Amino acid sequence: MRLVETKEALRAALREAWRDGRTIGFVPTMGYLHDGHLTLVDAARRENDLVVVSIFVNPLQFGPKEDFERYPRDVDRDLRLLADHHVDVVYHPSVADMYPSAPRVMLRSGAMAEVLCGRSRPGHFDGVLTVVAKLFHRVRPTRAYFGQKDAQQLALIQQMVRDLDFAVEIVPVPTVREADGLAMSSRNVYLSPEERAEAPVLFAALSWAEAEVAAGERRVGALVDGVRSRIAAKPSARIDYVELVRYPSLEPYAREAMLQPGDTALLAAAVYFGRARLIDNVLLTVEASGRAVG
Ligand code: PAJ
Repeated sequence: MRLVETKEALRAALREAWRDGRTIGFVPTMGYLHDGHLTLVDAARRENDLVVVSIFVNPLQFGPKEDFERYPRDVDRDLRLLADHHVDVVYHPSVADMYPSAPRVMLRSGAMAEVLCGRSRPGHFDGVLTVVAKLFHRVRPTRAYFGQKDAQQLALIQQMVRDLDFAVEIVPVPTVREADGLAMSSRNVYLSPEERAEAPVLFAALSWAEAEVAAGERRVGALVDGVRSRIAAKPSARIDYVELVRYPSLEPYAREAMLQPGDTALLAAAVYFGRARLIDNVLLTVEASGRAVG
């Protein structure tokens, strides 16, 4: 496994693979890796000749009051895990390598970033799309792997690739969870034991809604309210949002709306447990016949 820290070293490491037309699977990360990240890496390993992983905590996607400074980092541990998973190249650039000067031209994520996390984190997805576009140009991957845990990010990147003609295939990977349902996240380390004990309510509440839809519930307001009240029952939980939007367009449903046959909807929530802001989501598919499946 080769560790490279500059775009020149990255180019030198990939030049032959580009020249010989070998397939490159790419997994962008912010490090502090867990089994969610490693599941993306394993998928990339199975499907490509070469696997490239980036580790870069991207300042452009953090708001001024967010956790950029204290975002957890342990690159030595990350490198050991990536070597165990047979990664070929790890790109771990500095902020100066990624942004030699503050970018004056950036991608704009538009209406798809006006809901869910985009509403509570203004500018976040512009920062994500800008760094992912730069990484795609630097790595030139055949395929890039993204987790469905960050469903809005995944939908925006798929839209960017379509709208701007990036020559890369985006591969979605299902959310990897702890045994009690909590979605794996680098931010789970912020949880106190009490908060950790209550955090599984997030997925439990979303799963309740999934079961309601399967049993015939179609009222958007009832689903959102049911999820909210289940989460709010935990003393350490503070809800940022619970929202139901169409998928993958991310167009919001009116509160009074009903899910329609054939709809695919994203039910997503962001909840603070102490200082940790955790997100999770489920996709609700309403069959054209009117029957629902999770
Ligand atoms: P990060 O949060 O490190 O996540 C890197 C990738 O791992 C993302 O595609 C994310 O969706 C996926 N992932 C995280 N937890 C997961 C889980 N429990 N199951 C499945 N996949 C999971 O997302 C980012 O970094 C950044 O925004 C980035 C795309 C690297 C741009 O800076």
